[in-house]
Amino acid sequence: MPVKLSVRAESIQPSAIRRYFDVPKDVISLGIGEPDFSPPPCVTAAAIEGLKNGETHYTANLGLSELRHKISDHLYNAYGVRYNPEDEIIVTVGCSEALFLALAAVVNPGDEVIVVTPCFVSYQAAVQLASGIPVEIPCLIENDFDLDVEAVEAAITPKTKAILFGFPCNPTGAVASREALTALTDLALKYDLALISDELYDQLVFSGEHVCAPSIPGAFYRTFLVGGFSKNYAMTGFRIGYIAGPKNLLNGAYKIHQYLIMSAPTIAQLGAIAALDHGAEDAARMRDEYDRRRKLLYRTLNEFGLRTAEPKGAFYIFPEITSTGMTSERFADRLLNEKRVALIPGNGFGKGGEGFVRISYATAYEKIEAALERIGDFLRG
Ligand SMILES: Cc1ncc(COP(=O)(O)O)c(C=O)c1O
Repeated sequence: MPVKLSVRAESIQPSAIRRYFDVPKDVISLGIGEPDFSPPPCVTAAAIEGLKNGETHYTANLGLSELRHKISDHLYNAYGVRYNPEDEIIVTVGCSEALFLALAAVVNPGDEVIVVTPCFVSYQAAVQLASGIPVEIPCLIENDFDLDVEAVEAAITPKTKAILFGFPCNPTGAVASREALTALTDLALKYDLALISDELYDQLVFSGEHVCAPSIPGAFYRTFLVGGFSKNYAMTGFRIGYIAGPKNLLNGAYKIHQYLIMSAPTIAQLGAIAALDHGAEDAARMRDEYDRRRKLLYRTLNEFGLRTAEPKGAFYIFPEITSTGMTSERFADRLLNEKRVALIPGNGFGKGGEGFVRISYATAYEKIEAALERIGDFLRG
């Protein structure tokens, strides 16, 4: 008899969007959610230097002390939230590990976790891997994809344990308002829930302000803040993220991290220190270029007559395509086959995504211009 997979492994669905990633050379890809820039030169230099100096061993389980101090300072300087680098921050393998640690630290089997959608494709699976049940609550275009706190409250049951959300948002580009985050915090206090705030794109905000969830009065003691270096500094392959939280919550995450991972890659941690020390100018240059592409897309998609909320952060735009009469998948498939442009159908991002497509602008300006011409042709039929 062949070995049977666990119920856990069987229950995880393959990512619906993978097939739009590996496309032939003649296709213009607006599909991939990964910076097209290289990391700041100081980052690669620090990693190479580390290798030359024999920095090839484990670090402390929590991560290099210097990096934790710098992350703590960054969060304090940018948002006024203070985490003790000795026991309130763990350096993780990407933001992905941080998300899993937060969930695994608070979710018991059968607990419900409200997942704010449309969202990063891993959220639902991460809840399931932590033995929880994802309950998807969509944000609406009518509300610029801001948090729908009333809908979240209506979904709360005695089994609800946590609310998982990510702003700036992949895939909508929305930035949560202070008002909505304050109302969400009030809910967490009223119903005794944990908040898990994915702020991986915190420095990629073009319009309005990024509000750090734990900086909202009352939120700190029930919030896991997760973030990292993948997007802000174009360091996806370095695999460095972090989780921050009050000591009692963070200790739960720490116990899991120390057995699961031991420590994040050492030379990548050195790269992250360099990013915080010297990477700001390069990060700002990338942000300016994303902004230029964002403006082009927002203007042109509106000219095409596709209803589109202004994306205020991250590097995605999420136009509505229902006016074409096609489903998201049909639109994406036909655009790929007929006009050789790849984008991602919105239904891959959970509830509320059907009727939309995600366009990533982590692609050269000229390629976006060419893709828009092809999309215009496609829409005109
Ligand atoms: C919102 C969001 N969170 C987390 C991740 C995963 O980040 P990392 O590559 O740092 O693990 C992504 C990657 O696309 C993302 O978009």
